Amino acid sequence: MSIMNTLFDLGLVKDRIFETIVSTYDSNGEPNAAPMGVMTDGVQRLIIEPYITTQTYRNLVLHRCAVVNITSEPVIYYETSFKEDDPDKRAFLNLFEKADLINAPRLRDADAYIEVKVRQIDVKKGRAKVLCGIEKVYPVAKIPPKAYCRAPFAVIESIIHATKIKVFLSNGEKERTKELINLVKHYGVLVRKTAPDSVYTNMMKGILEKIEAWTKAKKRFT
Ligand SMILES: Cc1cc2nc3c(=O)[nH]c(=O)nc-3n(C[C@H](O)[C@H](O)[C@H](O)COP(=O)(O)O)c2cc1C
Repeated sequence: MSIMNTLFDLGLVKDRIFETIVSTYDSNGEPNAAPMGVMTDGVQRLIIEPYITTQTYRNLVLHRCAVVNITSEPVIYYETSFKEDDPDKRAFLNLFEKADLINAPRLRDADAYIEVKVRQIDVKKGRAKVLCGIEKVYPVAKIPPKAYCRAPFAVIESIIHATKIKVFLSNGEKERTKELINLVKHYGVLVRKTAPDSVYTNMMKGILEKIEAWTKAKKRFT
């Protein structure tokens, strides 16, 4: 196993957004995780930008630390985005183990971890800018090469759109909602074509069903 100890070694370069899963403890010490985009300022610091309505934001304020989990596995994005699918949280809690240096959980199945401590939090228009110092960067194992398939990436894009659709729907932003629903439908076709009858088609089905349920619920209450 090679030794990696900088963000650069994990491919995190300045001024690009990288999708990760940020894991934290809540006020009861229960693990939480949510997909979040992160950026580095190039000097071994990470910026996380959670909306202040998220549990992740509240946990970062409370404990001032987190694990930034590196993975491109769509199932992990799905499970940590749609936590309401698992109300007793049994399967969800099983995703975690303790981090090495800080008071936060990490995801067992991630490819690499960045343990961070919060240095500064600024909030503007409902979104926080959380500047974090790096405590530890470490890979789980050398990741074998993977041939490119369009389906996993289409699923992750669809999950990102779904989390936005939920917000746009509740804000009554019809045009933006419609635009994103069309994109998710497009990815649905792509996934069926490139990975028929797979875990990816199942997740796309789940995403489209959720969007339909949110849309129906919105219509019922308006
Ligand atoms: C790939 C991806 C990236 C995301 N990035 C962010 C982000 O940077 N900030 C944010 O507030 N939400 C982001 N989201 C949406 C949150 O993950 C989503 O709102 C989640 O439900 C928050 O969970 P929590 O309340 O447990 O923190 C992202 C979603 C996905 C799928």
